Amino acid sequence: MEQTNFQIYKRVFSFLKPYKALFLTALLCMMVFGSSDGGIPVIVKYVLDRVFSEQDKTFLYLLPAILIGFSTIRAASEFGQLFLISKIGHNIVRDIRAAMNRTLLQLPPSYFIKISPADLLSRLTSDVIMVRTILTDSIASILRDSVRILALIITALYLDPILGSIAIIAVPVGIVPVIRLGKKMRRLGRQGQDAIGILSSLLQETILGSRVVRIFGREKFEEARFDSENERLNRTFVKTEKARALVTPINELLASLAISGVILYGGTSVMHGTRTQGDFIAFLLSVFLLYDPFKRLSKVHTSIQQGIAGAERLFDILDEKPQIESPVNPLPLPDSNKLELKNVSFIYPGSEHKAISNISLKIEEGEKTALVGLSGAGKSTLIDLIPRFIDPTEGVLTLGGVNLKDLKLEELRSRIALVGQHTFLFNDTIYNNIAYGKEDATRDEVIAAAKAAFAYDFIMQLRNGFDTNTGEAGFALSGGERQRIAIARAILKDAPILILDEATASLDNKSEREVQFALQKLVEGRTTIVIAHRLSTIRNADKIVVMKNGTIVEIGTHDVLLKQEGEFSRLYALQFSSLDESNETAGTIR
Ligand SMILES: Nc1ncnc2c1ncn2[C@@H]1O[C@H](COP(=O)(O)OP(=O)(O)OP(=O)(O)O)[C@@H](O)[C@H]1O
Ligand SMILES: [Mg+2]
Repeated sequence: MEQTNFQIYKRVFSFLKPYKALFLTALLCMMVFGSSDGGIPVIVKYVLDRVFSEQDKTFLYLLPAILIGFSTIRAASEFGQLFLISKIGHNIVRDIRAAMNRTLLQLPPSYFIKISPADLLSRLTSDVIMVRTILTDSIASILRDSVRILALIITALYLDPILGSIAIIAVPVGIVPVIRLGKKMRRLGRQGQDAIGILSSLLQETILGSRVVRIFGREKFEEARFDSENERLNRTFVKTEKARALVTPINELLASLAISGVILYGGTSVMHGTRTQGDFIAFLLSVFLLYDPFKRLSKVHTSIQQGIAGAERLFDILDEKPQIESPVNPLPLPDSNKLELKNVSFIYPGSEHKAISNISLKIEEGEKTALVGLSGAGKSTLIDLIPRFIDPTEGVLTLGGVNLKDLKLEELRSRIALVGQHTFLFNDTIYNNIAYGKEDATRDEVIAAAKAAFAYDFIMQLRNGFDTNTGEAGFALSGGERQRIAIARAILKDAPILILDEATASLDNKSEREVQFALQKLVEGRTTIVIAHRLSTIRNADKIVVMKNGTIVEIGTHDVLLKQEGEFSRLYALQFSSLDESNETAGTIR
């Protein structure tokens, strides 16, 4: 959703709220520091007039004390504003990162299909810093430099009302071109940040897909793809710099006009004796001093515009609503683990056809149900509904008779263990990867789980045993070993409902047998839903559910279904005919 400038500013400012007191202190420092600027020309005036023209000795002796006092206040307030503003800035960056992380933790897994990790990462790093720039450097500059300009203008008016008035009129004129440049910077800023996101995603693919790129010989193609994005980013940056580089020269040109005028008018009046030299030099100094804060202020506008672009990209993420949430008044978790689907359909967002359509199914407590069907039949979709990774478009799912939507999410999920096809291990020790399954697991429990998962022996053979990091040994662990670690994690969770999605796909026979042993341990006494790919492994299932095009076409036991000569026996024949022709792995159906 497009947000107006005002809304974005307001939201950006809301990040300052927790630091009100610090910010006010910083503001005070800025005021003091800024207004001390106005004192500089006045001191110079008195030095010139009292010491040099009038030879006032008392004033000369007083001068060091005045100067030291003045500088101390100036130094203290400068330190205060610089340090406090940076501190607030870093705190805000931390808060925004935390807010993003919190949002990402709430979003359903399906969200991450839409956005690449690299793009997210670029938002989490460079966009966050741009927003910090608005809130701290830019606001600081606006406040401090406005106060400096104000103080200097007051001093100028005090020294010479007529010239001072001219200066007041000249300032706004100088701002006009700067504002126009700022608008351009914002557009370019958004383009630049988007391009960085795309570029990072491409780089990520080059790294993760390195095998695919090499084997298909597409290095040139990848290079060209990267180069064209890189070029686009480069053009955006160059345009941005052009706009930015124009700001200072335009200001310097305007300043030189102002100063020439002052010298012409002021010099004449000194020659005619209507003004002291001290007055004139002091006035000239205040116009000179005006230039620095003015220049900073003009630059701020452009960096604010870029920061706003960064903020928009952050808010895009922060505004993602977790479509799946716990109800406000959840019902108590029922004791029964009986699952039921009643007329359930699901359509993926943006898709036209139903991935699963009008499915009704009862899964009794302690029962082992196998889902079979060709690829795309809707098996994974169906099991994603149970832990509420997705919610049905139509129909309801119940646990022990209670609608899943009426249960607290974490309570529902505490009942379910899941072992998926793609084993995900954290970049941490094997011990911690297993212990992830239970928050307060003891070492004995972790070891027992590893043993039950048939993982203990190979873990003990690793150089650092349970303390081996999966990151360092990640490539050394085979697919089967990784899966057994995941199974140990699920065993440790000890949840009554177990979901296995193609848990033994892509394994060789020996690994599969080991994983199967581990799974048998896991399945014992639990309500199990397994997506089976080798029909031989589900012979002992209590119920086999055969899916086709998103619907259930047959339900029954292995033997009954085989006799029926329907879809199941067709799948069976398919698997075993290919078995005859080649080896067993070719006989995998999904
Ligand atoms: N994120 C998604 N967005 C849109 N459509 C999807 C998405 N995921 C799956 N589908 C579609 O939903 C249908 C069912 O997919 P599903 O993943 O449930 O099949 P499956 O039975 O698990 O297949 P496989 O055995 O290959 O894993 C398919 O037509 C698929 O293209
Ligand atoms: Mg699947």
